[in-house]
Amino acid sequence: MADTIPTLPAQVSPPQLALSETPYDDLPSGGLVALPVLPGEAPGDDSDEDVPPLLGPGAAELLESLDLDLLAVLEHHKASGKAGEVVVHPVPGHPSVAAVLAVGLGEQRPRDFRAAGAALARKAKDRELLATTVPLLADDAALRAFVEGLVLGSFEFHWRSQGAKSQPVERVVLAGGAERQPVVDRALAVARAGWRARALATTPSNLKNPAWLADQAVAWAQEAGLEATVLDERQLEEQGFGGIVAVGRASATPPRLIRLDYTPAGQGRKGRKAPHVVLVGKGITFDTGGLNVKSGDAMSTMKRDMSGGGVVLATMAALAAVECPVRVTGLVPAAENAISGSAYRPGDVIRHYGGRTTEVTNTDAEGRLVLADAIAYAVAELDPDVVVDVATLTGAMKVALGLGTGGFFATHDVLAEALTAAGDAAGEPLWRMPLLADYAHLLESKIADADNAAGNPGAITAALFLQPFAGGVPWVHLDIASVGDSPSDNGVWTPGPTGFGARMLLHWLEQDAPLAGL
Ligand code: BES
Ligand code: MN
Ligand code: ZN
Repeated sequence: MADTIPTLPAQVSPPQLALSETPYDDLPSGGLVALPVLPGEAPGDDSDEDVPPLLGPGAAELLESLDLDLLAVLEHHKASGKAGEVVVHPVPGHPSVAAVLAVGLGEQRPRDFRAAGAALARKAKDRELLATTVPLLADDAALRAFVEGLVLGSFEFHWRSQGAKSQPVERVVLAGGAERQPVVDRALAVARAGWRARALATTPSNLKNPAWLADQAVAWAQEAGLEATVLDERQLEEQGFGGIVAVGRASATPPRLIRLDYTPAGQGRKGRKAPHVVLVGKGITFDTGGLNVKSGDAMSTMKRDMSGGGVVLATMAALAAVECPVRVTGLVPAAENAISGSAYRPGDVIRHYGGRTTEVTNTDAEGRLVLADAIAYAVAELDPDVVVDVATLTGAMKVALGLGTGGFFATHDVLAEALTAAGDAAGEPLWRMPLLADYAHLLESKIADADNAAGNPGAITAALFLQPFAGGVPWVHLDIASVGDSPSDNGVWTPGPTGFGARMLLHWLEQDAPLAGL
């Protein structure tokens, strides 16, 4: 059977990035050159008037050597210089430059650079090299965003036997000196986390079962210097993880609890211990709905129901690279919500880690059952200062926020503000939802501490279900069902999994004091 299951393809990797003071020298034949374009200044107040765009720095010499009037080309294409606009001008017969790409930078905010990077990455597919002076206009935040765009706009992943339909551009040469290397490196680490979270979510569930996910986690942990521990189904049973055991019981591939631990350099035994953040990610490797089976349509994307877990694992693997100053533990309760004679049933009562009980009224509300165990375990055993869980938890979140914004719930305002700001910086927009205590009565069960499927408002009742497991520990619950999947090419998102959350978490955890003010 092993032969019929493809292993992870190694052939698709992100572009290689290099800095150069002279990016346009030594181009190989067929190279692409990307020049920055800025919107022109409108004379007076009349912004309706068409104003021709301007060329950014680094263009004049190159255009002269190509004998190209790029402004005329831009005018011909009615280019405006808005962020992410790309005008492709082929240079036939030239020994090295195959085409000039004029890329708009709009208002030159980091998000504009991110859009520009992603748009260039799409145009540069299957090319060997893209050289660009865009970084000359970018401060550090903008350069990071540009690199994130270049990497994530290139995202590809496939199991085609004849090779990829298209490949990311092989190399990108960025204008700039060696002093910018740390900025590029950090951007790469963050972008790679997004890439990895997408790759895990894209992996089909005939390969990606709980044990496989645990193996990936252990491999990444070794590479990143994290401690890794995996509990198997017997240990989970013995230690009282009733939610994970119940949800995973019907599957031929039993559940796991994956734990990764990161300790910042220099924060070992001596002195005051650094604050401790616990990240919990929903790791449902496939969600059939269980006995409350989903329709074919609703089930079709459920290999991605471990997106939150993938985000947590990818984030953990990048913490050292972003020099995160706090201790972080990642927990991923991994289970397949399958159907068989041993499946848990509607009406079952389960006992979570630590003793709280739940009446299962819908086996398709499985995510909260596995998260509850992991959150309770974190609070009881890990002495966390903050718990953040990430999950594709409710279809209701899609209804509430649409497909472009992630929803979250928070018990502490400072945390809510810190995560919102990190989401803005990372280009992963978040909206805070209310933990409305007035709806808590909806979760009452006649026979247990709570009902797992209290009904509408579905995203809020799911959050209220989880809240008691966090006890008094500051807690954030991120419901990424709205943003886990992109239907189309959209900025740095490519069709399919977005990896949403990994970049936000890293932008938060790389700060000097992520828990300041708590
Ligand atoms: N994994 C789903 C939520 C989901 C739906 C994620 C669509 C991404 C896209 C979750 O396990 C689920 O099935 N939730 C149910 C809960 C209900 C039964 C209370 C839902 O949202 O319908
Ligand atoms: Mn479900
Ligand atoms: Zn689910």
